[in-house]
Amino acid sequence: MKFLLASSNPGKLREYRELAGDSAVELDSIPNFFEIPAFEESAPTFAENAAGKAIHYSRFTTETVLADDSGLVVPALDGAPGVLSARYAGPNATDEDRIHKLMGEMAGKAGNQRQARFICVTAIARQGRLLAIASDSAQGMLTEKPRGKDGFGYDPIFLFEELDRTYAELTHKQKNLHSHRGKAFRKLLSLVDKI
Ligand code: IMP
Repeated sequence: MKFLLASSNPGKLREYRELAGDSAVELDSIPNFFEIPAFEESAPTFAENAAGKAIHYSRFTTETVLADDSGLVVPALDGAPGVLSARYAGPNATDEDRIHKLMGEMAGKAGNQRQARFICVTAIARQGRLLAIASDSAQGMLTEKPRGKDGFGYDPIFLFEELDRTYAELTHKQKNLHSHRGKAFRKLLSLVDKI
């Protein structure tokens, strides 16, 4: 089975390719993704955005489209950055800008106030119809300073406590095994058998 990923995020594409590598699914990005009218991710939940994105992009191809909406939720910041994780520091900001902004918001917060979780909702659709949706999360703590060179997004400040390493210090195999995206995608694949 082939899935086309509806995302312009190279970090996500790499992770999904690695995750699909262990399965019967072949994964590619949507050809000419930037020529397709963009889906407005304006819903207040990850689920609505993931499902909406998958349905929208599946109208432009006959293949099965995979989309996800994911982000970092910090309870001490009332759930921010949440569904706005990609746009937290404005539309043209870099990963470094977003990390810098979050570190600023976290200044003075210690102990349990630094708890955070990554959430991923992943969905597949074909020709405008949603086929399956699955979600999962990963619990961690925000570090005081970025650690590690690998990964993307907020990886360098998300300490995965079980392994005492930030996401950016984990091997790809370790991140894929424990991450919100890895767990959600494996759930999605278990649903695909049933479609
Ligand atoms: P979206 O799902 O494309 O709307 O964006 C999700 C945003 O959340 C990304 O741009 C990252 O900033 C962040 N994010 C989601 N998953 C991860 C991850 O595995 N590591 C680091 N940051 C992530």
